[in-house]
Amino acid sequence: MKINIKFTVIAGLCSLVVVMTAATNTSKPAETNFKNLQVLPKDISEATMNKVMVGEFEDALGVSCRFCHAPNKDGDGLDYASDAKPEKQIARQMLRMTMNLNHDYFKIDTPMMGSSNIVVTCNTCHKGETFPDGDPAKN
Ligand code: HEC
Ligand code: HEC
Repeated sequence: MKINIKFTVIAGLCSLVVVMTAATNTSKPAETNFKNLQVLPKDISEATMNKVMVGEFEDALGVSCRFCHAPNKDGDGLDYASDAKPEKQIARQMLRMTMNLNHDYFKIDTPMMGSSNIVVTCNTCHKGETFPDGDPAKN
């Protein structure tokens, strides 16, 4: 009986380890929540993504999601992974430029859009305007 209890405890501990390993393994595929990220980190969290798309892109440019994201083929909603709209490509270019400015000129090792470690953001230039023209008379 004693041996049985010991065995149960050990077996219990083993299955706990198995469960924990399984949990860390399954958290890997969850990284790829998003299908088509080429500039932002592929393991970006939903919360950070939301911050970037809403707080950064939408607000800084004064646009809504559909300025960059193409509509779903079957009616309602947007196909966020699609690259059909040229504005999305331009936004990627702008994103690379912004990250490079932070990295090369402000010496930030790993600049991350949506974090507070960056100095230059979309809003630094855009200030709510889709096409900032730099006209001093307007600023
Ligand atoms: C100024 C352009 C722009 C605006 C506005 C914008 N996005 Fe995006 N979005 C992008 C770009 C560019 C990417 C791809 C980033 C990359 O390649 O790393 C992206 C990627 C995404 C993705 C990931 C899709 C995938 O599976 O790969 C989601 C989800 C998303 N956007 C949601 C939104 C939502 C919701 C809004 C509105 C609140 C929004 N976006 C507004 C440019 C924009
Ligand atoms: C260093 C200044 C600067 C920064 C930083 C910047 N932009 Fe821009 N962006 C511009 C200028 C200037 C234009 C207008 C270009 C024109 O009128 O042809 C522009 C235009 C755009 C356009 C419109 C392109 C088109 O022709 O439809 C998009 C989309 C855009 N920017 C996205 C972004 C996003 C997203 C970020 C942040 C990741 C960003 N920009 C950061 C300067 C900047």
